[in-house]
Amino acid sequence: MQPLLFLTLMYTPTKYRNLVNEFLASKPYNREPKELYEPVQYELAIGGKRIRPILMLMAYHMLREDVESILPVAVGLETYHNYTLVHDDIMDEATLRRGMPTVHVKWNQTTALLCSEIMVLHSYEGVMQAPAEVRDEVLKVFTQTAVEISEGQQYDIEFETRSDVTVSEYLEMIRLKTSVLLACALKIGAMQGGASKTDCDLIYAFGEKIGLAFQLQDDYLDVYGDSKTFGKNIGGDILCNKKTYMLLSALNLANDEIKSQLQNWITMENPDPEEKISAVTSIYNELGIQELCKKEIRTYYNEAHDLLDRISIPEDKKKVLWDYVSSMIDRSF
Ligand code: IPE
Ligand code: IPE
Ligand code: MG
Ligand code: MG
Ligand code: MG
Repeated sequence: MQPLLFLTLMYTPTKYRNLVNEFLASKPYNREPKELYEPVQYELAIGGKRIRPILMLMAYHMLREDVESILPVAVGLETYHNYTLVHDDIMDEATLRRGMPTVHVKWNQTTALLCSEIMVLHSYEGVMQAPAEVRDEVLKVFTQTAVEISEGQQYDIEFETRSDVTVSEYLEMIRLKTSVLLACALKIGAMQGGASKTDCDLIYAFGEKIGLAFQLQDDYLDVYGDSKTFGKNIGGDILCNKKTYMLLSALNLANDEIKSQLQNWITMENPDPEEKISAVTSIYNELGIQELCKKEIRTYYNEAHDLLDRISIPEDKKKVLWDYVSSMIDRSF
């Protein structure tokens, strides 16, 4: 048995991603009404890193071998993630995702709303297929997560027009809108694998830290990324006055003159988009915000590592998860 066990544990992220993509491709979205299902298929098929299902499969795989048995649940979570993206793109007036036009741009807002309803329903259909002995608890964690994501998204939007947002409010907002889904993926994976309550809680806390680092990196790439690889328009957060760690830190560090320049850009009605993005980015550069943000990202990865250390699973099994998570640190997409 031992060599077989070893082979299974050597799954690469690509192998997990392929499992997810193959399962998704087998879903019957080629059906009527086309206007409803085509955008669902489009959103789910246009790529994406598949981080959440991969995390779930990895967490499960640290405990059990039959990883394919939880694919419906893993893909359910990915489907939920994609629903949040369709709504998020309407809220953020984003025109590009994964290098392709967003659903509300390619079709329209009504179609985007209806197709995302289907995605929510299908995500529950998937999550409900968790093993009977943990199904209720899995559904509870998933539902709580879904509620928290909406809360986070609401704060994200409210913060756009607030001028007194603190860094700790920002961190709580990104914990809600982003971290909890990564944490949920890991916890649900561990629960289905039969992990102890202590380990389930630790892996959730680990996911929260990874999620903070992940959203900080996303915000960083929104300023410093390359649209071609990132797949989204650069500067979108600056245009929406998103209260990111970078903007809040800049406001905190700036002298009176730079602070008033920043505030000027934030309150200006109908600025030239390119000018605003370039001016705010220059201020970030001047204040060393890039390095500050990188340092903050590293802090959360370190905290995550400490939590992973405390999980009572053999080191070699945890290494697969840590190697994958580490590869996200310097991601450019
Ligand atoms: C985008 O998530 C939304 C955030 C939480 C930043 P991902 O960066 O995981 O998006 P895809 O699925 O890989 O495109
Ligand atoms: C996304 O935050 C969070 C959710 C989708 C819940 P962002 O608005 O930063 O995500 P992107 O950058 O559009 O992917
Ligand atoms: Mg967005
Ligand atoms: Mg958003
Ligand atoms: Mg973003």
